[in-house]
Amino acid sequence: PRYVALIPAAGVGARMAAGSPKQYLPILGKPMLRHTIDAFLSSPLIAHTYVVVSADDPFIDTIVPEAGVTVLGCGGATRMESIRNGLRALHGGIAPDDWVLVHDAARPGLDAELIARLIVETGEHPAGGLLALPVVDTVKRHVAGEVATVSRDGLWLAQTPQMFRYQLLTRALDAATDPSAITDDASAVEALGLAPKLVEGHPRNLKVTLPADIRIAEMYLAAHQP
Ligand code: CTP
Ligand code: MG
Repeated sequence: PRYVALIPAAGVGARMAAGSPKQYLPILGKPMLRHTIDAFLSSPLIAHTYVVVSADDPFIDTIVPEAGVTVLGCGGATRMESIRNGLRALHGGIAPDDWVLVHDAARPGLDAELIARLIVETGEHPAGGLLALPVVDTVKRHVAGEVATVSRDGLWLAQTPQMFRYQLLTRALDAATDPSAITDDASAVEALGLAPKLVEGHPRNLKVTLPADIRIAEMYLAAHQP
């Protein structure tokens, strides 16, 4: 089986409020999405990379498509719709047991080492796997005036990539009846009663969400440059 990357990049970046979608903002002078694509191009394990953008995306042509990258103009109204549409577009060109690594365009700090760690540690796990970070802070839950401390024992923060066999991922996302309950791909797989493997990620793989995150991403990427 092959390993392919699927990058949802059809969001508008409302929380970034930059005037243009955040995946095109420069990080160390290079568009965020280009960093994300380059991480997969730098991995010898990845056979092909697919990028899902909006049909009317005016910026994608500035991210020069090249060998090994295919742009799919089938982005949807939600992240999950974009991924479902992307998976549908792959149909016919991918084997049911091929692995799909779904990775947010907004995580430009990914690198070949993290990709390899995810693939190696997930191995043949029947439920797939994802990068995640053990929670280090003390966690509070505040509901209806009650405040309680939640044990962080066993708590992880999900990152991406999240990798599943094509057949399992499409089945899980098609079965998801409550899209608002599905905030990542693994949760759709969990809803089938399966337990994906948690593989330790890295803080450098943060999701760029708010304006201040740009500087943090630049710090990690600068520290990594040769
Ligand atoms: N995404 C997508 N299609 C959507 C919404 C999001 O492909 N309809 C992608 C984003 O481009 C991003 C990833 O999903 O790479 C994670 O989403 P998020 O960080 O929430 O990005 P945005 O939705 O663009 O940001 P915001 O929620 O602040 O608007
Ligand atoms: Mg969003």
